[in-house]
Amino acid sequence: MAKAITPKVTWVGKIDWELDTFHGDEYSTHHGSSYNAYLVRDQKTVLIDTVWKPFDEEFVAQLKKVVDLRSIDAIICNHNEIDHSGGLVELLREIPDTPIYCTANGEKILRGHYHQDWNYITVKTGDKLNIGDSDLVFIEAPMLHWPDTMFTYMTGENILFSNDGFGQHYATEFLFNDLADQGELLTEALKYYANILTPFSSQVTRKIDEILALELPVIRKT
Ligand SMILES: [Fe+2]
Ligand SMILES: [Fe+2]
Repeated sequence: MAKAITPKVTWVGKIDWELDTFHGDEYSTHHGSSYNAYLVRDQKTVLIDTVWKPFDEEFVAQLKKVVDLRSIDAIICNHNEIDHSGGLVELLREIPDTPIYCTANGEKILRGHYHQDWNYITVKTGDKLNIGDSDLVFIEAPMLHWPDTMFTYMTGENILFSNDGFGQHYATEFLFNDLADQGELLTEALKYYANILTPFSSQVTRKIDEILALELPVIRKT
């Protein structure tokens, strides 16, 4: 089910109420999870990330209700763990030549996962994709939490698509963190950080400082 975030940005992901473990059996998820994908519509139409593989057909079917797939000009893969990239095979079956923007490590990982010679375009920090009034600016964030991870910042709408960097496994009917149950959300965020990001804490701190130094306005919903 799609949800509007701004007139130009629509959430097109999947809330998974039933997930109870992730990474095999290593990570218990007491409140499900969310696979966040976004459709960005300016003069160009861009899809940011997809969903976990078991939901790939549902994802593509839902996406078709929101947009003509042939009008998607580009796909951005911020991080290519299968809960983010699992919808690509099903999607690219329909639009196989669509460029996929990712880091160099992202291309390696996507090729390793899916063995597809897709139209990869590798990007580095500071590279931009102009989509009309807005630019999508790429910010590499290696090891937050995979070597391929990057963030994407959308100018004009002032949204930082931060992927797993500030993530948690949590299913909620409310899209925005300030509307969710704060106790549950914080518990899941702390658990995720403790288990997934603690070894890279100094890199998290450096990345936050780096982003703050860019003095980019970021929407904070109050
Ligand atoms: Fe991840
Ligand atoms: Fe993730």
